[in-house]
Amino acid sequence: MTSAKGADLSSWPAAVSGVSKDPELEARVAAVLSSMTLDEKVGQMIQAEIQFVTPLEAAKYGLGSILNGGGSVPGKDKRAAPARWRELAGEFETAMRSRSGVAVPLLWGTDAVHGHNNVFGATIFPHNIGLGASRDFALTARIAEATAREVRATGLHWTFAPTVAVARDARWGRTYESYSSDYGLVRKFAFEHIVGLQGAPRSSNFLDSDRVIGTAKHFIGDGGTDLGIDQGDTKLDDSELVRIHAPGYYAAIEAGVQTIMVSFSSVNGKKLHDHRRLLTDILKDRLGFDGIVVSDWNGIGQIPGCTNSNCPEAVNAGIDMFMVPEDWRELHRNIVTQTKAGTIPVARIDDAVTRILRVKARYGMLDSSIRSGGGSTLPETSVIGSPEHRALAREAVRKSLVLLKNANKALPLAPTARVAVVGAAANDVGRQSGGWTLTWQGSGNEPADFPGATSIFEGIRNALSQHGGSAVLGLPAEDAPKPDAILLVVGEEPYAEGEGDLESLNYPLDAVTRDAIETSRARGIPLVTVFVSGRPRIVNTLINASDAFVAAWLPGSEGAGVADVLVGASKAVPKFDFQGRLPFDWPLDYLSTTKDEQNLRQRTLPIDWGLTYASGISGNIPVLPESPVDTDDDNRLLRIFDRRAVAPNQMFVGDSGNWRIPAVGQDSTSSDGVLTVRTIDRLRQGDSRQLEWNGRGEGIFYFETTTPRDLREWISRGAALALDIKVQRPPTRAVTMRAHCVYPCGAEANITPALRKAPRDEWVRFSIDLSCFVKSGLDPSKVTTIPLLSTDGRLSMAISNIRLIPNAAETATVSCMSR
Ligand code: BGC
Ligand code: BGC
Repeated sequence: MTSAKGADLSSWPAAVSGVSKDPELEARVAAVLSSMTLDEKVGQMIQAEIQFVTPLEAAKYGLGSILNGGGSVPGKDKRAAPARWRELAGEFETAMRSRSGVAVPLLWGTDAVHGHNNVFGATIFPHNIGLGASRDFALTARIAEATAREVRATGLHWTFAPTVAVARDARWGRTYESYSSDYGLVRKFAFEHIVGLQGAPRSSNFLDSDRVIGTAKHFIGDGGTDLGIDQGDTKLDDSELVRIHAPGYYAAIEAGVQTIMVSFSSVNGKKLHDHRRLLTDILKDRLGFDGIVVSDWNGIGQIPGCTNSNCPEAVNAGIDMFMVPEDWRELHRNIVTQTKAGTIPVARIDDAVTRILRVKARYGMLDSSIRSGGGSTLPETSVIGSPEHRALAREAVRKSLVLLKNANKALPLAPTARVAVVGAAANDVGRQSGGWTLTWQGSGNEPADFPGATSIFEGIRNALSQHGGSAVLGLPAEDAPKPDAILLVVGEEPYAEGEGDLESLNYPLDAVTRDAIETSRARGIPLVTVFVSGRPRIVNTLINASDAFVAAWLPGSEGAGVADVLVGASKAVPKFDFQGRLPFDWPLDYLSTTKDEQNLRQRTLPIDWGLTYASGISGNIPVLPESPVDTDDDNRLLRIFDRRAVAPNQMFVGDSGNWRIPAVGQDSTSSDGVLTVRTIDRLRQGDSRQLEWNGRGEGIFYFETTTPRDLREWISRGAALALDIKVQRPPTRAVTMRAHCVYPCGAEANITPALRKAPRDEWVRFSIDLSCFVKSGLDPSKVTTIPLLSTDGRLSMAISNIRLIPNAAETATVSCMSR
């Protein structure tokens, strides 16, 4: 089938919307629309961030929406009480009501992605990956309903959830927001989650006062990017996109989802925020989605030629509401001007505003009884972190645990057991909750930030102390009596989005873990490992050393759910059985770490794997191959540039005027101006450098240490030199990458083809086998300079994150090239 515009839509089946258009409601929307000025219409299309807008300003502009970003809270007070949230919501509502002109209430959106997670004292549920493991769809609906209640209790209206991403490469930092790599499962979870948030479409509780508006995100293919790079490029044809990444959206539309968020990522090199075909021809026209298409945080600024505040392309592509936290005033002005000038058709503005008003009308906001913050119909703030919600979260924790190994009947623990509990995640609610918890990254939280929560250790201690057992933190002293078991609770530290992207899934063991393994071995004490992580990691050494191994994902505030399953009613008689099954393949191979369907070498515990007590109490898996890197934490990566040159490296620019000028401070230019280096922001402030070669002679950019370093160990570990690059203007002449072993000793590789092939204006990972340099003459025992980039042509590119990565030579993106 072909649309009027000629786009081929044949791969896209039509969707069945759960919500039908109500003629009366549509008429009301049309009436409100026709009473609005252009300024007011554009106001509806703006979503500002609470730190950058006051209630009075929101009213002045007639804003359609506000949001609080990850970790952004009223008064910047992390421990702000629910009443404070409600008060602020009320202030916005009052201001909107009393504005002169058309008074339409605004929607306050938040990332309530595993509970109302920005709010102090809220129930923190397991992240989606854990719910995926539970395979319990009805449970997910109940959790979404409870979350909606907590969100409503603070006076907010909208959550940017669920993520319906199908994560296909666990190196992606958002894997834990994905239910599964199996799109069939994602489809079912998406449906239930949305029904839980919004109420069932066509039922009397649909968008009722204790429900919130949901968002399916991030449209589309966010989980399918090349190498699992966050905000990267998904290279798939339509039929694969439809098969793998669309099911969540079909389900969401069936469930009546009212908003869909656009992905930062690209499809086949084109940014979704600029993708008219996918946003308008497909999502709106073909799939019939009649709600709001909202942009992601400054996502429009990533479109070539756009900034955060100026991007008619994004409006014309079909985005209805603009999440532009800070620069929204200028954006408002620009959209108004561009509409007056005809760059943006008025019909496009009317379509966007109609959709926004439609959603508000469905939520009862265009009725006389405006439903908003402070209203009498809101749930009591006591629902936030209530015993009922915590019990529900604990049930979810119980159901999400996956038993990978249980040798020698190490589990369940007898209720009378004496257990030594160790590991960085044992007694740390922040760590067991992961990213998007009180702060964006989930880092920087302390016990006092989680009133009412229970750590995994506390849960175990409570369960054991009730029956004469005991749990103490720390390994037993050598002369102390042997405990019945060592419980090791380790795993990942919290992260969110691109900050969690990995090169390799190899999990390095820390010192405490090695001690625990050693003590268990030396004294013959059973070792039970609970692994807390946002994704599977390669932990063969630890699995081998453990008698029992449990994947707990990111359980959230109710750590007691772990003890429910690990501690039995009596020895060998469990209280609760395991019901979780792997939602992703669990890789067991050191060489290849991608979930690459063509890679037959890959060994995994396959998706759906999960032992139970019932199926024989004891389960075992064969001894797994181990790698030396597995037990090496400190030297896992050799960082050369990480927001700045990492000591002892220093960064230099050079040209024939002076080959050695330190590149310090914000900007530097080589002596004759051939090369300029500017500090730019990618994921974090100042974390990258923009390099511009003007083509008037040779210009070089390099990292050097005063004392030569011995990199032979890295060669033997199969290391690759990796950097993230973004090529804006490809090289006009040859570009070399060099390494020196005290100049002029050295070697070079021709990277011109790789730079020419790199996608334009997009961050990609560039890596090269370190031994390429050795093969062409580098003495690895005394390296001073690595890498050096040189060209005498013109070239614009940005670089970030330069490091040596062990075991990555085989998967390097650039092969050794002759000179
Ligand atoms: C905000 C997050 C947002 C992120 C995007 C952070 O500063 O708090 O909500 O997702 O920026 O880069
Ligand atoms: C994330 C979204 C989130 C938004 C608002 C973005 O950085 O990609 O998932 O909803 O920030 O915090």
